[in-house]
Amino acid sequence: METISFDAEKRLFVLRLKSSFYAIRILETGELVHVGWGPLPELDENVPLHFQGLENFKDHLFPWDEQTHRYEFPAAGDVLYHDTAIRAIFFEPAKPLEKGEAFHGTVRDLRLRYSEHEITIKGEPEFAPRHGLPTRIETKRPVLAIHLKDAAYAFEVTLFYRLTPEHDILERWGEVRNETRQPVKLDRLDFGCAHLPAHATKLTYAAGHWAREFIPQTQELKQGTFVLEQRGINTGHAHNPFFLIHAPGQATEEAGTVWFGALAFSGNWNLRFECQQNHQICIFGGYGLADFEIILQPGEAHRTPAMILGCSREGIGGASRRSHRFARERVLPDCGKDQFRPVLYNSWEATYFDVSEKNQIELARLAASLGVELFCMDDGWFGARKDGKAGLGDWSPRLEAFPHGIKPLSDEVHRLGMQFGLWVEPEMINPDSDLYRAHPDWVLHYPARPRTEARNQLILDFGHPEVVEHIFQILDQLVRENGVDFFKWDMNRYVTEPGSAAGRGIWRKHVESLYSIMDRLRQKHPTLRIQSCSGGGGRIDFGILARCDQAWASDNTDAVDRTRIQDGFSLIYPTRAMECWVTHEKNHQTGRISSLNLRFDVAMRGVLGIGTPLDQLSQEELAQYRRKIAFYKRIRPTVQEGDLYRLSVAADEGISAWLSVAPDQSAAVFSISVIEHLYGTFYFPSVLRGLDSRAVYRLLDEHEKEIGRYDGLQLMTLGLPGEFAFSDLTCFIRSGTLLLERVN
Ligand code: DGJ
Repeated sequence: METISFDAEKRLFVLRLKSSFYAIRILETGELVHVGWGPLPELDENVPLHFQGLENFKDHLFPWDEQTHRYEFPAAGDVLYHDTAIRAIFFEPAKPLEKGEAFHGTVRDLRLRYSEHEITIKGEPEFAPRHGLPTRIETKRPVLAIHLKDAAYAFEVTLFYRLTPEHDILERWGEVRNETRQPVKLDRLDFGCAHLPAHATKLTYAAGHWAREFIPQTQELKQGTFVLEQRGINTGHAHNPFFLIHAPGQATEEAGTVWFGALAFSGNWNLRFECQQNHQICIFGGYGLADFEIILQPGEAHRTPAMILGCSREGIGGASRRSHRFARERVLPDCGKDQFRPVLYNSWEATYFDVSEKNQIELARLAASLGVELFCMDDGWFGARKDGKAGLGDWSPRLEAFPHGIKPLSDEVHRLGMQFGLWVEPEMINPDSDLYRAHPDWVLHYPARPRTEARNQLILDFGHPEVVEHIFQILDQLVRENGVDFFKWDMNRYVTEPGSAAGRGIWRKHVESLYSIMDRLRQKHPTLRIQSCSGGGGRIDFGILARCDQAWASDNTDAVDRTRIQDGFSLIYPTRAMECWVTHEKNHQTGRISSLNLRFDVAMRGVLGIGTPLDQLSQEELAQYRRKIAFYKRIRPTVQEGDLYRLSVAADEGISAWLSVAPDQSAAVFSISVIEHLYGTFYFPSVLRGLDSRAVYRLLDEHEKEIGRYDGLQLMTLGLPGEFAFSDLTCFIRSGTLLLERVN
């Protein structure tokens, strides 16, 4: 059957994905209403689909029920009773006034009616990357564009739907066009919205704080609106723009229908979960509402970024796997030959601001001897940057620490066979910097008002084209002159006083400028890689991941805390983009002492990094690092490219057990980390998933020693035999990592 079909008689669009569908109907009035989103029939594709309310739109119980239509893009005008996805403000009447009419300064009434549609393979949302690098899969995808017009004003909205059928993913975005002769103001604009069956009220999302990002939360929606949002110019630590939702009691980690979604935008975003009075659920996602305004001049159009939507029949885990595959194949830039993310060393927790040519070269030599592939020097190498008080903005090497610049370090790193990475925080400036002294007007500020500093820094005005060009030139020069292979792109504060050359548009403009610099850099230097960091996990979303290779999930490197953070990260983002470091035995954030095994086991779940002061380790410890890094390289293809099964999560069991299975089922990596240890508790052996039930797998420990051979079906039913599941007598359980390899 066609992926996108239109039944002209029923005026019905049906969008078919691999195992789910989405349907929209045009009413007689021209209103566009949502009529279904859920699993497709499994056996017979000709069985009629289950549409919601298709025939009953006229049978209103109460006159105001019209307000409860499931509008595909509810506009303030058709709907005032419930939340809306768009609100337009017109400053002139659409026609000369007639007798009996009065004009009160504005018309805030938009009624969008169907005009035409196209089914195409063209069209992309705002902020699709412009760096020219491919994604892993580049085949064209079907796009439905539905054009809507206001009944009286020459004001149009096009709703776009792009399908990635193999992952059950649908991206929505909109384009708004002002063809009137007057400016039109928008004071709310969503990228899309999603109606769910009324029973789907159990919401899972991520919440937290700096050093505690991505902590999974669940709650049941009750009548009213629950809002997640970021009031800033990064994605935020407190919430992340994704959700998963299902009917209470009807879905688990591996079973049941789960709807999910995310926004591809790294600025002020907003997700509103409205449980209406009739218990219909609508999820709105788009630009944050605080201080939001778009003025469309006559003839101007505005296209939104994407809202990504998906539906899984294999529970929460199935939703995560769909989202991960989508990210790997359609979002992250393809790395071509160097397909796997390298093992990284980062200097931050080893030397903090006290970096010098001498100590970095010493660390680089040790790192290379352990098998590290990318050496990244963190904060402290530039300007007058001896601590957090000065230097941001002055991106030339601090001469007392780097008398010959950073090229000698970069050369040595390359000579050692590693890539060279450099920390930058390009959007920021310390008032104590030459750049600020030269251009005090280049920061976000209001005249004659205080400029609030946070971490002693102010934010450059990315609404100012000269500032954006200056930053691009600086970064370009750093790459050209120093052979930089990798930027750790940091961003360490929230906004205050958002006064900008871009006016109120700065909330979006900052993101546009940021993306444009990254895209230009990558276009000019196609082998350059970028890590997204914002005080840890403050800028992780599908918008930034389209121009970055990996992200720093949190500044918290405590293995125990990190287990929970990574459980949450993995709900929607892939392990391939999750950078994780092994650091000090006594953790610097929490003071907790964790074994080397646990630190590695947790960090090996994503893109492995090392942040330990290697010069303080004994030869014996260095040998352990070397061996574990070698083991990581062995398991890396499966960890970074496999399908993730969360066998248990820390929040529920005190044990987080992950299994990554290679797409062809030839290998799997089992990782268990115990974070609450109550001696005497009897633990169940982990029951594996996703393996080939007819295959035999050999189990290898981190010494690559074979410790047994087992049948795939038995591993997926009876579980891992106790003695190989890091458990003694099943009442004591240890953390660990195992590689499973198919032998037949
Ligand atoms: C915050 C980052 O998350 C850290 O890893 C480190 O780079 C510091 N900034 C440096 O200032």
